[in-house]
Amino acid sequence: MPEITPPPPAPNAVRVLILHGPNLNLLGLREPGVYGTQTLADIDARIREYAPTVGVAIVDCLQSNHEGALIDAIPAARDTADAIVINPGAYTHYSHAIADAIRAVSDRIVTVEVHLSNVHAREEFRRVSVIAPAATGQIAGFGVASYLLGVSAAFAMVTKN
Ligand code: DQA
Repeated sequence: MPEITPPPPAPNAVRVLILHGPNLNLLGLREPGVYGTQTLADIDARIREYAPTVGVAIVDCLQSNHEGALIDAIPAARDTADAIVINPGAYTHYSHAIADAIRAVSDRIVTVEVHLSNVHAREEFRRVSVIAPAATGQIAGFGVASYLLGVSAAFAMVTKN
């Protein structure tokens, strides 16, 4: 199949960093009934293809299974991104440290929390997000489209004034 080259970002594009938390590197193999069959590479490719069509330049797509790496990436984005779209994985439910990192940059960076699955329709512990009160908003339950909606929401919030 020929490779699709996305158009170059517009000069005034909103800069978005994509962060994926633990176990999302296993997408495709991991509980396909819940998370679908697309790999993380498929999802990143779809995000990169979609972003320029809605005025967004993707700064980077990073995945880590380590809380500290995610925490480091958030303030590091202060001067390079206008928004972060983050799927914190299971850290969603207990990482006050990631929530604090998001709060620390919230004067400069819009943060959209996204989930592939509808966390509110699953086990009790998944209904609680300690990230949501720190984030600008949350999108859950739309599969890969959660990320695309997250990218659009980031654009809308960064450009709203
Ligand atoms: C997830 C939901 C979390 O509860 C879970 O731990 C994940 C994936 C989602 O995208 O649906 O790792 O964030």
